[in-house]
Amino acid sequence: MGTVTQWKQLLLSALESNSHLKHSPYFQFATIGCNGRPSNRSVVFRGFEENSDRIQINTDCRTRKIEELKHCPFAEICWYFSDSWEQFRINGRVDVIDGSNPDPEKLQVPFPCPLHYIILSYKVSYQTYS
Ligand SMILES: Cc1cc2nc3c(=O)[nH]c(=O)nc-3n(C[C@H](O)[C@H](O)[C@H](O)COP(=O)(O)O)c2cc1C
Repeated sequence: MGTVTQWKQLLLSALESNSHLKHSPYFQFATIGCNGRPSNRSVVFRGFEENSDRIQINTDCRTRKIEELKHCPFAEICWYFSDSWEQFRINGRVDVIDGSNPDPEKLQVPFPCPLHYIILSYKVSYQTYS
């Protein structure tokens, strides 16, 4: 396990070396359901917040994950890069940011009812299988 800077660098390298694969920007984003059970889904990586290690995801405010994050603001990402055989598990507290933010351009919102949320990554596990 390295410092925050090291894992971000490893992740950026994995994205680069797997960029020829269409599925490389997708990862699994697990929350805790309102019933206390795991709740998991695929999402798209939207980049890092400017000058930070906070990962950005876009979503629609009507999705279940938003309700779940209100109950418990913690989530885990599992991201596997199939060409380099690397897996990242990124566990952190999630800040949900309303899509009516005064700077909508930054949000790159693709949904009619937008919300944009950011994960603050405080615990990262990295494995390689090559
Ligand atoms: C390849 C792929 C990419 C997806 N990307 C996103 C995404 O970036 N944001 C999102 O909210 N849902 C995305 N979805 C849909 C989610 O997997 C999920 O079905 C949806 O967000 C509703 O989940 P929830 O109700 O559990 O929150 C994607 C689905 C697939 C298959």
